[in-house]
Amino acid sequence: MRNETIDTHQWPLPEWLDPDTYRQMYDAAITARENAYAAYSNFKVGAALLDEAGNIHAGCNVENAAYPQGVCAEAGAISAMVLSGGKHIRAALVLGDAPEWVTPCGGCRQKLREFSAPDMPVLLCNPNGLQASLSLDELLPHSFGPAHLMPQRS
Ligand code: THU
Repeated sequence: MRNETIDTHQWPLPEWLDPDTYRQMYDAAITARENAYAAYSNFKVGAALLDEAGNIHAGCNVENAAYPQGVCAEAGAISAMVLSGGKHIRAALVLGDAPEWVTPCGGCRQKLREFSAPDMPVLLCNPNGLQASLSLDELLPHSFGPAHLMPQRS
């Protein structure tokens, strides 16, 4: 159980993100993380995404005995968002328990990028709350995206 007295935003939130919404994302990631299946790494991760309609979609990591088949928490949250009709990620929150910030892996940065603007904040959390907030562009600079596949105009 999360300790209610813990300060869950030690790092400033993006100005446009109201604390209640952040709190809902944080709680969704806490709950998702509790259900993570991390049988091999024992490293449970929860993720929560805020979409363009204000809906929150959560995911957890799901590992597999065939190790490369494991799925990250962010990927599960993206699938949940797409399934329920969400089109755009306004903010992402990743929650793990490590001495260092838990940042999305390289593959998940690219997956998030598909549905996000460069300034989309990725809120890096642990059970003590928000540890840092980095934009997607800080995590994945000079990235490849859908616009690169548009037909070239001559
Ligand atoms: N993991 C995530 O789910 N998201 C991250 O942002 C970092 C890593 C998972 C993958 C694997 O199940 C476990 O954490 C250890 O790498």
